Amino acid sequence: MKKNVLIFDTTLRDGEQSPGCSMDIEQKIRMAHQLERLGVDIIEAGFPIASDGDFRAVQAVAQAIKSSSVAALCRAKFPDIECAWEAIKDADNPRIHTFIATSKLHMEYKLRMTPGQVLKAITECVSFAKQFTENVEFSAEDASRSDLDFIVEVTKVAIQAGATTVNLPDTVGYATPSEYGRMFAEVRRQLPDSRRIHLSAHTHNDLGLAVANSLSAIENGADQVECTINGIGERAGNAALEEIVMALNTRPNIYKAKTNLNTQQLIATSQLLTEITGVTVQPNKAIVGKNAFAHEAGIHQHGVLNNTLTYEIITPESVGAAGNQLVIGKHSGRHALHFRCRNLGYSLSDDELENVYKQAIHLADAKKEILDDDLRTIVAGMKSEFKNGYSPNTI
Ligand code: KIV
Ligand code: ZN
Repeated sequence: MKKNVLIFDTTLRDGEQSPGCSMDIEQKIRMAHQLERLGVDIIEAGFPIASDGDFRAVQAVAQAIKSSSVAALCRAKFPDIECAWEAIKDADNPRIHTFIATSKLHMEYKLRMTPGQVLKAITECVSFAKQFTENVEFSAEDASRSDLDFIVEVTKVAIQAGATTVNLPDTVGYATPSEYGRMFAEVRRQLPDSRRIHLSAHTHNDLGLAVANSLSAIENGADQVECTINGIGERAGNAALEEIVMALNTRPNIYKAKTNLNTQQLIATSQLLTEITGVTVQPNKAIVGKNAFAHEAGIHQHGVLNNTLTYEIITPESVGAAGNQLVIGKHSGRHALHFRCRNLGYSLSDDELENVYKQAIHLADAKKEILDDDLRTIVAGMKSEFKNGYSPNTI
């Protein structure tokens, strides 16, 4: 039996907080519609108290979106909560997302509050938010660096006050997968009551562990993950939505979990975000990078031409990519070259293929990647060289 994991997309809030990724109202609405097409369960649209612009953007997203829930972030303060509610109250399924830090470091140096005061604020603010909507999420900021017994207490208090989701973030990307997973397992073990609420993972990528940490949380009791398209977010980013979802889909026997996503929309969503923000993804980025389904090495190309499973664990079609790509570079072999030439409409004899191959590999030393136009030029050059006795029907 696979458990259902809710996808909480925070591209428009935590993602937008990354340098160069801010979006105006119209851009947020375009992105939100695409996230809805992708099938995310919750869209966190912004932090309404932060600015008038963000308030209006969250409000516009809340009014435009029909099938996903729309969440607004707010600190555990009454005016923040009221402001968040004002922004999302027109949504079909609004969610108030309120948070306060729970680590000793944050409580002492940032909040200047005692653990008792923090627990009181959680009770008061979650109960206050419940007056507006049934759908209230509470986040314990810096949970992964908080005392574990205190996190259990915090979760208990948030549930008692009416939170329907409790989120335990790795705010600074410090946790390791086993540590982060243990926190979820302990909370589920010590609080049988937590079975009636959603437990959420929210991870940052400072050590490159965000996706691994989210997956570990899922294995240990989380049934919601908070993530962003292309992994954009504060500092080194948030967990990349596309990587989490495809790991769950590709390894069902390990994670025993499913999502409600239409994965064929992943590439389109990634590309829309790039178009809107101007921030591109690295070519070797998992799932959505330009090279995610490209093969250059001759041995790999030969394998893929015979059976794609030899070097591909995900079909390009399943994420909305056009297909795999056999790149002709200096590591490529004759099989791929033959395949590419055939696709360009050329039927080459063995000698001709050998000739084109030698020229292409020579050119690849200087040029990195041989494009279709390069192949056409090489074939045309060969055609004029072999004009005497050359049969046009063979090319
Ligand atoms: O990283 C974090 O702790 C957050 C919370 C506000 C949910 O983004
Ligand atoms: Zn965050």
